[in-house]
Amino acid sequence: MDDHKRLDFIHALPKVELHVHLEGAIAPERLLMLGRRNGIALPYDTVAQVRAAHAFSNLDEFLGHFGAVCSVLNTSEDFADAVLDLGADARRQNIHYREVMFTLAQHQRRGIPLEAVVAGLQIGRQRCREQHGVEIAFIADIDRTMSAAEARAMVDSLATFSLSAGVVAVGMDGQEVGISPATHRDAFLRARELGFHTTAHLGWDEDPEAIWEALDALPLERIDHGLRAVEDPRLIDVLVQRQIPLTLCPLSSLAVEPGRYPDLAAHPLREMWRRGAAVTLNSDDPMMIGQDLLANYIDVARAYHLQRDDLVRLAGNGMRAAFVPEHLKREWLQQLDRYAAPS
Ligand code: ADE
Ligand code: ZN
Repeated sequence: MDDHKRLDFIHALPKVELHVHLEGAIAPERLLMLGRRNGIALPYDTVAQVRAAHAFSNLDEFLGHFGAVCSVLNTSEDFADAVLDLGADARRQNIHYREVMFTLAQHQRRGIPLEAVVAGLQIGRQRCREQHGVEIAFIADIDRTMSAAEARAMVDSLATFSLSAGVVAVGMDGQEVGISPATHRDAFLRARELGFHTTAHLGWDEDPEAIWEALDALPLERIDHGLRAVEDPRLIDVLVQRQIPLTLCPLSSLAVEPGRYPDLAAHPLREMWRRGAAVTLNSDDPMMIGQDLLANYIDVARAYHLQRDDLVRLAGNGMRAAFVPEHLKREWLQQLDRYAAPS
């Protein structure tokens, strides 16, 4: 496939996205607008300054910037606007379904009530459906730095709102090193008990031992990133055998951790794909990183010389790993087959 054909094929390919953070998807224009609307003093005045400020060289540095971006979200309307932007952006990229993570602790820490957050998510999701024909579901992420009791209380509080607002899963993000994932076992068990799906950011900074520990202690259906699993061939065997979906965000890894991942050839996605792991492509924090899902597909396709069948398999992996009923997955996969069929 020549490059021009490949770009067209990727653009129109029906796609889902399973790992994108609401806060990290706020466009610079929206960030400045929300800052003004809420009287928040930001360290930047122009779009160019926002872009220039978003420079990092490791996860902890990135997380410092992420916290600053969170501060512009204060009212239900702010959350609804941020979600609606994700819907418009999804339609532009031919993403018909997006699972959007939000980090509740970042907002509760600033005194924003859960009710305000969830009301905004619900309004935004409805507007995405009406205005863009895009379906949005939410993943409520535990911030790993929370205490076990705080995380458990967060999950309990979500029970009241979950279904009507489209919160389908509980996840986990934030700092890794120094905090065992098993800290939040109780919260994850409770999440499953309440009928939520589960996923967790693992193995970005922390060593493969932490991924083993999480697989043992937490009832996880998917893993977000899981990059350092490649250092342990036995662990990769398990991920392949069990076909545990991995939501990888290669351009995010390159942007946030350039020392460890200088280019896509050095990214663990290559080995995971080669070994037959259930990998999916995602953007993570597209606006903070400056790379969307299309860019991830395009750069990966070029770097690994992917052909039509490979791209269809990647898109299908996302659909199979989505937190939606089986009948919907079948419908999506049939649509994908029709798209891929030679005309
Ligand atoms: N918060 C937002 N993006 C994140 C990531 N990729 N890893 C950990 N925490 C995050
Ligand atoms: Zn993430």
